[in-house]
Amino acid sequence: MRVLVTGGAGYVGSVSVEALVAAGHEVVVLDDLSRGHRAAVVDGARLVEGSYGDAPLLRAVLAATPVDAVLHCAARSLVGESVENPALYYRENVGGGVTLLEGLREAGVRRLVFSSTAAVYGEPTSLPIREDAALAPINPYGETKRSFEGALRWYAGAYGLRSVSLRYFNVAGASERNGEVHDPETHLIPNVLRAVLGLRALTVFGTDYATPDGTCIRDYIHVEDLARAHLLALDATAPDDPRTSGPDGAASALALNLGNGGGFSVREVLAAAELATGAAIPHGIGPRRPGDPPVLVADAARAREVLGWRPERPDLAEIVASAWAWQQDHPAGYPD
Ligand SMILES: NC(=O)c1ccc[n+]([C@@H]2O[C@H](COP(=O)([O-])OP(=O)(O)OC[C@H]3O[C@@H](n4cnc5c(N)ncnc54)[C@H](O)[C@@H]3O)[C@@H](O)[C@H]2O)c1
Repeated sequence: MRVLVTGGAGYVGSVSVEALVAAGHEVVVLDDLSRGHRAAVVDGARLVEGSYGDAPLLRAVLAATPVDAVLHCAARSLVGESVENPALYYRENVGGGVTLLEGLREAGVRRLVFSSTAAVYGEPTSLPIREDAALAPINPYGETKRSFEGALRWYAGAYGLRSVSLRYFNVAGASERNGEVHDPETHLIPNVLRAVLGLRALTVFGTDYATPDGTCIRDYIHVEDLARAHLLALDATAPDDPRTSGPDGAASALALNLGNGGGFSVREVLAAAELATGAAIPHGIGPRRPGDPPVLVADAARAREVLGWRPERPDLAEIVASAWAWQQDHPAGYPD
């Protein structure tokens, strides 16, 4: 299959591109390198530098290299930035997203897998979070992801677009080749590892939550498990596949949670990092941050049922160890 991967030079995208290439698919990456890294794109995939929101470029790419399906990983994805600059998030994630969908419609591409997020749920009212929970995002980032999911639903009925939105919780770990480099970095595990290296100060926000050790609990999933889910989800968008068909057989949009099914507290992450690095983790304690629910954990039963997917590397120690191995091999991140 020939697949266009937007954001394929980013963290999740680059590991998914590795998996696609390893499975024998032909891959074109469309990435504007605003946050991604040229060096993260594995040999065997072709990188086109530019935005999925650039209609003429998209048209040219799809005309030169017709694709069977799209994996849409690219997005603006910083919660704080989205609150300060919602215009950017609406322009990119929603406006750019619709430009992408229009380009696909024009080119007759009817299969898409979307990197969605747990942020579409907002603060959960029951746990673990199921896909039929209310979508009530509490920031523009989550809201723009919800909007794009909505567009996918309407495009299914009107234009026959089959899609799977994968709602990731927390992605972590590294493949041998690619790891997590964000600037700014807002994710706990890379920040814990950078604290070990003395590259940043680490604060644990809140130790008085109603959780067993008082710190927040989140659901971490290994980035390679996520990459496998992408391949399985792409299969589910095949023409006539019942998983992306409504009762009448017409195309439909599916949304699935991806998570480990359990959660790990901040203190458990620190303990796993101590084990992986053999070092004490220097950290301070701060107050709770507004908008941080005590527990965010996925019910991923539906992804197991529908895709036959289950995490192969659910162990926190292994997830953190893979991130640490990558960090040690790439102390300065990517060369670019
Ligand atoms: N990392 C996580 O824990 C996590 C959790 C939930 C959801 N997600 C979602 O997964 C996706 C990937 O996340 P990530 O951590 O790999 O992010 P990332 O920032 O590492 O990767 C995003 C990539 O998209 C590219 N990009 C951004 N805007 C673009 C545009 N207009 N055109 C082309 N390329 C563009 C960036 O250059 C970057 O390479 C995002 O959509 C994010 O919202 C990630």
